Amino acid sequence: MSTALIILGAGMGTRMNSELPKVLHQIGGAPMLVHAMRAGATLNPEKTVIVAGHGAEAVSKAALAYDPDAETVLQTEQLGTAHAVAQAGAALEGFEGDALVLYGDTPFIGSETLEAMAVARGLHDVVVLGFEAADPGRYGRLITKGDALERIVEFKDATDKERAVTLCNSGVIAAKSSVLFDLIAAVGNDNASGEYYLTDIIGIARSKGLSSTVVRCDEAETLGVNSRAELIAAEADFQARARTAAIEDGVTLLAPDTVFFAYDTYLGRDAIIEQNVIFGPNVTVESGAKIRAFSHLEGCHVSQGATVGPYARLRLGAELQENVHVGNFVEIKNAIVAEGAKVNHLSYIGDADIGARTNIGAGTITCNYDGVFKHRTVIGEDVFIGSNTMLVAPVTVGNAAMTASGSVVSRDVPDGDLAIARSRQENKPGFAVKLFEKLRHLKISQNKVQ
Ligand code: UD1
Ligand code: CA
Repeated sequence: MSTALIILGAGMGTRMNSELPKVLHQIGGAPMLVHAMRAGATLNPEKTVIVAGHGAEAVSKAALAYDPDAETVLQTEQLGTAHAVAQAGAALEGFEGDALVLYGDTPFIGSETLEAMAVARGLHDVVVLGFEAADPGRYGRLITKGDALERIVEFKDATDKERAVTLCNSGVIAAKSSVLFDLIAAVGNDNASGEYYLTDIIGIARSKGLSSTVVRCDEAETLGVNSRAELIAAEADFQARARTAAIEDGVTLLAPDTVFFAYDTYLGRDAIIEQNVIFGPNVTVESGAKIRAFSHLEGCHVSQGATVGPYARLRLGAELQENVHVGNFVEIKNAIVAEGAKVNHLSYIGDADIGARTNIGAGTITCNYDGVFKHRTVIGEDVFIGSNTMLVAPVTVGNAAMTASGSVVSRDVPDGDLAIARSRQENKPGFAVKLFEKLRHLKISQNKVQ
């Protein structure tokens, strides 16, 4: 059965007190909207339709960055969840499969849960995701009879007896797309909020002889974010789960609470992560690699046997091959560092290729930017770059070449050559002693004047 995702994200999110649309606030380095899209991706959706309102342009851009085929439709006035879903109708005209409604501010729905909903859809016309709420508060209540879901009643419209029900509506609903839109067409707004409630479709389905049921999940999965405080709590939940998952996958975390993950961090078995390490998006650390304390990594790949840090920064496009050593206060960006190469101290390597077994001396900088353009530095294999070498790109240093420390290398260095690019040293015999004497006399005479 093919599936279309409809992700609601038009709400203003007033309680976030932010210019940024609520669904673009981030957890683990990705907008909440992307978390919802990733959750839905387990069902291999044929179509994804995002319902946006406030900040629709930015919402659309974020959706497209994750899935170039995602479509965004506009809900200019927020008249309720049924009205929101109705806006996706034109985009799904003629679509034969199932539609699954998700909320853009509910980032943690699990893949097993969505699979269980797909299975339940084989047996019922409409499937709602519910959960036993520790504190049911203002959630919609699910009124069931045996396996059947009879209707959903919103808190505002519920009787005391209905409010006593603890089985609550997560908002996630699945039905055949055409059925969903037929049901929504019958929804009115004669209720306590004057809104078009998506939840009304259950009662309507029943009156039409269609069957509905509930799939239950853990309350943690349906956690929604409405305020900054809830966003912080959701981030903490996400981090706690990511740490537990890494440990279960065989990663060594020396101080788990001080390691921060992104939504897509991949750490191989027996990788060692020391204290206070931060992973931005798109990082892969292979088995057995070691990330030492206080390092910051994003958009990079660290191969087996490599060590990074302490206090290292790997940025977008840093590719460390096997057994590479990157040491303290080293920044690497858009650079391939080949097998066994070492960049151990105080260096910036950007837009560069470093050959196998090459050693980059302390304080080396690839001068990659001329104020307008970026240029590449290419260094061969088995090269020795002397400390404090400035490599003015574009420049190439051949295999087994050397640079003298303190050199400013602006011309290519052929294989096997030594480049010395600094002024020649001159020694003045005894001059230091004379200079000291002169300066000390000057100091004494100045003190007398005062
Ligand atoms: C909704 C459910 C409630 C459920 C709760 C779970 C309805 C009527 N109620 O209530 O049963 O327990 O979610 O969190 O569906 N949105 C739009 N356009 C709109 C209205 C809402 O895009 O016109 C989006 C919001 O941005 C949000 C989601 O839909 O992502 C839910 O809307 P919200 O107003 O928070 O619904 P609740 O009142 O919490
Ligand atoms: Ca809500």
